[in-house]
Amino acid sequence: MPPRGTRDILPDEARARWAVVDAARGVFAAYAYGQIMTPTFEETEVFVRGVGVSTDIVRKEMYTFEDAGGRSLTLRPEGTAPVVRAFVEHGMHKLALPVKLWYLAPMFRYEAPQAGRYREHTQLGIEAIGSEDPLLDAEAITVLWDIYRRLGVPEVSLRIGSMGDPESRGAYREELVAHLSRHEGDLTPEERERLHDNPLRLFDSKEPRVRAIMAEAPMLLDRLGDAAQAHHDRVRAALDTLGIPYEEDPTLVRGFDYYTRTVFEFTCGLLGAQSAVGGGGRYDRLVEELGGPPTPGIGFGAGVERILLALEAGGVAPPEARLDCYLAVPDEELKLRLLPLLHELRERGLSCESDLRGRSLKAMLRHAAGLGARHTVIVGPREHGEGTATVRDMESGEQRTVPLEAATLAEALA
Ligand code: HAM
Repeated sequence: MPPRGTRDILPDEARARWAVVDAARGVFAAYAYGQIMTPTFEETEVFVRGVGVSTDIVRKEMYTFEDAGGRSLTLRPEGTAPVVRAFVEHGMHKLALPVKLWYLAPMFRYEAPQAGRYREHTQLGIEAIGSEDPLLDAEAITVLWDIYRRLGVPEVSLRIGSMGDPESRGAYREELVAHLSRHEGDLTPEERERLHDNPLRLFDSKEPRVRAIMAEAPMLLDRLGDAAQAHHDRVRAALDTLGIPYEEDPTLVRGFDYYTRTVFEFTCGLLGAQSAVGGGGRYDRLVEELGGPPTPGIGFGAGVERILLALEAGGVAPPEARLDCYLAVPDEELKLRLLPLLHELRERGLSCESDLRGRSLKAMLRHAAGLGARHTVIVGPREHGEGTATVRDMESGEQRTVPLEAATLAEALA
């Protein structure tokens, strides 16, 4: 068994994952994002400073270890802080802004495993750094929307909110703490701790007792400063213009300290408790926090496993990699002579399989059907003598005779 909360990925799922990644890559290309790859582990400080000490991730979910040189390192729990670290490190603020980056990477979080929640999961994400234009927020949301659409992810809904500017948030935080303090007697010691270090996170509580208190709490979305309000209105206007449906959610808080202004999350109505298929937001202070010049940014992360679960729940098959041809040659000597033909079909880009276990012709046909081959190409001594092959369409059962020659065969199989 692999460690709890981690999984082996077998070929069928791997195929489906690549279909998801390929669709996303097509969308990233359409919006001119370039790929970035950062190391699987970082100095722990990157996440402590980037993600924030009061977050669950930093407090209790990181896989942190000391290497033989005594450095504290952490397996990447999320993608934004490392990408921003790389942005600063490589002086990317000198490039044409915004710099648009996408990534595909495994993330590691020590969370309680359950359906759709793993200790190692994979995220597809983007970070667009160097512009505070609200149209960039709308673009980031649209990129993710397009990925779901291209894949046919069912029952996806979008919620958006705003964390306000750090300036307006200060005054709001005091108001919220004052409200919560009036109910301090109804809170557990852990919730009371939350009240002081990260009161907004209490909006995330599933406890009916806490939800009742939060239902009466003041909302940040009602307390935005003028600039944050104007920004939020423009993001909404862009989504309206594009016809992307969303719901405004004043209680949307996401588990990172770096967010400012826009936050958003996509959920799939067919998934259970872990229904978030992607989320993100703006982080206008993070570049500075990690040692760069003041530079705003926005991005999202989307869980590949969650997208696959959503597709499965909706009975939507991800575009399959198909097996074009099964070459059935019931003669060992002929098999050797036909190796160049098999090789050439593969070189022409056709996906081909053949028998490598000395099966009978009947067993080969069963094998081909089991693999889901679209065609079986049968070449026995008789066909070979005549310079032909029998091509059987595996779905209709129809057979036809085709010259035994790679170019013609490839055409018949395409
Ligand atoms: P996040 O919401 O923590 O955001 O994760 C993004 C997505 O990753 C989630 O919506 C979910 O689909 C998936 N995910 C998260 N945790 C797990 C898990 N334990 N098992 C399976 N899937 C999971 C971030 O990580 C931010 N860095 C996103 C961002 C980018 N914000 C700005 N830029």
